[in-house]
Amino acid sequence: MNLRFPDHFIQEVVDRTDIVELISRYTELRRGGSNMMGRCPFHSERTPSFSVSPTKKMFFCFGCHAGGSVITFVQKAENLDFTDAVEYLANRAGLPLPKESENAMASGGVTRKRVLEMNLEAAKFFRACLFDPAIGGEGMRYLQGDRALSPATIKHFGLGFAPNSFNLLTDHMHRLGYRDEELIAACLCGKSQKTGRAYDYFRNRVIFPIIDPSGSVVAFGGRVMDDSKPKYLNSSDTPAFKKSRQLFALNFAKNHCSERMILCEGYMDVIALHAAGFPNAVATLGTAITSDHARIFSKYTQKVIISYDSDEAGQNAANKAMRILGEVGMEVRVLKLNGAKDPDEFIKKLGADRFRRALDQSRTGFDHKSEQILARYDLSVGAEKIKASNEICALIAEYWSAVEREVYIAQVSKQLDLPSDVLKNSVEQMRRRQKRAHAERESREAVATVKNFGDRVNPEAAKDPRAASAEEAVIGLLLMFEEYRNAVERGEIALSADDFVTEFNRRVFEALMRGHAAEGGLHPELLGMEFDPDEMGRIERAEMTRRQLTQNGPEVFRSAVSVLQDAKKKENTQGGDLNERLAYLRDKKSKIHKGKADNT
Ligand code: GTP
Ligand code: MN
Repeated sequence: MNLRFPDHFIQEVVDRTDIVELISRYTELRRGGSNMMGRCPFHSERTPSFSVSPTKKMFFCFGCHAGGSVITFVQKAENLDFTDAVEYLANRAGLPLPKESENAMASGGVTRKRVLEMNLEAAKFFRACLFDPAIGGEGMRYLQGDRALSPATIKHFGLGFAPNSFNLLTDHMHRLGYRDEELIAACLCGKSQKTGRAYDYFRNRVIFPIIDPSGSVVAFGGRVMDDSKPKYLNSSDTPAFKKSRQLFALNFAKNHCSERMILCEGYMDVIALHAAGFPNAVATLGTAITSDHARIFSKYTQKVIISYDSDEAGQNAANKAMRILGEVGMEVRVLKLNGAKDPDEFIKKLGADRFRRALDQSRTGFDHKSEQILARYDLSVGAEKIKASNEICALIAEYWSAVEREVYIAQVSKQLDLPSDVLKNSVEQMRRRQKRAHAERESREAVATVKNFGDRVNPEAAKDPRAASAEEAVIGLLLMFEEYRNAVERGEIALSADDFVTEFNRRVFEALMRGHAAEGGLHPELLGMEFDPDEMGRIERAEMTRRQLTQNGPEVFRSAVSVLQDAKKKENTQGGDLNERLAYLRDKKSKIHKGKADNT
């Protein structure tokens, strides 16, 4: 039988099942604290390490790490798949199975097509609001005044305005026949914790529709018109939208990218560039560029010019983007804009011609990075010149091609006014050292791999055991506490799927947050639809491990998130180039310094 039961039916089956009574038929359970303990039915043991929580309706074995819901238990004990285990428990509880038509309705419920339909109606609504002076006057003043956009540009991008109301869009969509659940699934509405009803997700913001290359409105971004936070609010992922696979304005840029594309950080950069005659500009949607994005670029063009913010964060992000785009074989250049913080400001202050000239002078990765290094040192001071030369030599040492190294050495020799054979010696010495360090790292990784060998559930944990355990801490805490899930959902804690190092834990995180956002909130037993019993055991282990610890307050959650993000950063820079590794260390050091300063 391969039907998919509706979520509510699965929950009812779980609710009607007495987990203690069920499991007692396989092993004897005794009370131990708030849980029941017994000998594990899935491995042989003398002392009981198998624990059952009647309130959570979950089980976990501290010995063999089997764990999960009553459904997982039946899957393992009776060797059934998820659906058959649900059916088995339904029969046991005397619940009639739902009809096939009901099952079909349950398959995700809201389709991509339906979301696109709703988005289109919402886009029309937002636009109408913007052009109605009584409602959208403030939005129009912001776009035309503060942001200096022409009416033609506003129309071209289909910009809109979300009124300062919790129900105008919701009521409008109700009148068009859309239901609360659909509006929530499309992320046009949030869901009230108190009443469970839908309310307008975007309020008092100017709206940027995000349109995919085939012309469908897949999502929205909204910006406040003052300094309040968050500055931008984006649709979460929906059946029609995955943030990591979407580029803003690709619908226009795809017709102008034969030669090259420009990659910016923000919506407003792209809009300003298009208005100034650069219709080949796109931006990611407030996330770092992913390999999915890189593959999209490679479909449309040969060459990408990165035009990020000119501050240090922007320039470091550019280094990362360079690597990710380089990995799919793109020719990459970097633009450093002098005299403005971002392309939007550059165009406004210095004009389109200056930007065109800057584009033509955009530099290769090496030039960009070496300039970043040189800018940090005062070359008239001997000690600083030595440091600069060491850093640049380390950068050159990373290039495999001897010709490239030769060319860069000659160039740097002029810049630093140092003999090229001295630089060359230094580069070769560093190459030897890097090779040694590389070999050491490989052997360290080999040890870790052996330690985690045979981890079928999460094979990647062997690559970076530290990161994997940080991930498990985060997941355990998210499972335990709804408020952490809320904080992540609302963006109060910046944590996204991109922060995860291992694919398995990333999938768990996404499923948790999806479950959390769904009607009725997170039901761990529903995870069994996506994860097999071994995987369920791992998920349960993450939670049980946390439950055994007494410290689980918000500061613990925040610090687990930051350990994870540091590990991710390190992963991104390891094996990447040295310059990024140095940037990472500097960043960390400055945080430590800052921390010290804050404490005094
Ligand atoms: P303006 O202030 O409107 O010029 O924005 P910007 O484009 O200069 O923004 P910034 O450089 O601060 O951010 C670049 C991009 O990151 C934005 O276009 C958004 O996509 C995204 N972003 C910025 N702030 C936020 C935020 O608070 N939340 C989210 N989700 N994304 C943001
Ligand atoms: Mn800006």
